[in-house]
Amino acid sequence: MRKELKEIQQLVDKVHGWLSPHEGITLYNLAKNCTGKGVVVEIGSWQGKSTIWLAKGSKKGNNVKIYAIDPHTGSSEHKEAYGKVWTFNNFKKNINKANVEDIVVPILKYSDKAAKTFNKPVELIFIDGSHEYDLVKLDFELWFPKVIDGGIIAFHDTVGWEGPKRLVKEIILKSRNFKSVKFADYSITYGRKVKKNSVFDRIRGRYVLILKNLYEIPYNLNLPKPFIYFMKVVVRSLQ
Ligand SMILES: C[S@@+](CC[C@H](N)C(=O)[O-])C[C@H]1O[C@@H](n2cnc3c(N)ncnc32)[C@H](O)[C@@H]1O
Repeated sequence: MRKELKEIQQLVDKVHGWLSPHEGITLYNLAKNCTGKGVVVEIGSWQGKSTIWLAKGSKKGNNVKIYAIDPHTGSSEHKEAYGKVWTFNNFKKNINKANVEDIVVPILKYSDKAAKTFNKPVELIFIDGSHEYDLVKLDFELWFPKVIDGGIIAFHDTVGWEGPKRLVKEIILKSRNFKSVKFADYSITYGRKVKKNSVFDRIRGRYVLILKNLYEIPYNLNLPKPFIYFMKVVVRSLQ
């Protein structure tokens, strides 16, 4: 791993969250490649782990602003696990510590409320808010129209969580509106928005769907970690 990425990893290792280092690097690269034709939006920031990866990538690229949308009161599973949740103080502290406060704009709202007034074109959106199927689908429906042609939509937790897992199969991997789709280890699925994709793009979508389904077998069977790791390497090398 490059020295700069290692340094970011060391920094985000101290931030509570669920994003793996490889997923962080995926976000870093996606944000780095943003041209500035639109902004970056994140739905679901928690304490800032993914926000920092996105912001660091953007700073390495074209300094595109990151709009980090989260009411900071947690999702249903967090409230169940921790009781009352308030993550904004830690989020702010972590963003400042990472020196990215100049390009991160927090929006303390639910994504559907934020969508009503958000009128900037979006070049990259990372969706990691509610993981319930109906709500993650609503996120897609409200935000997809704001994404520019050629922009990227990425979802987190598309393996272990039924909502995003089902949705990405329906709206990205089998879609006519995405090209260059990818399943990036270990649980991010993303694609580039197009008006209408080509036959080749659709074949690629089905191919990635097959690889993703294969990856899910050892995961669903709860096989020992080496099997899952092996599948991860196979899936990575075949895309
Ligand atoms: C899994 S955590 C996000 C983790 C974060 N991306 C990271 O890498 O650490 C989910 C977050 O989504 C937020 N959330 C839940 N429903 C939301 C919604 N409808 N709109 C925006 N944020 C939401 C929760 O408050 C919580 O902080």
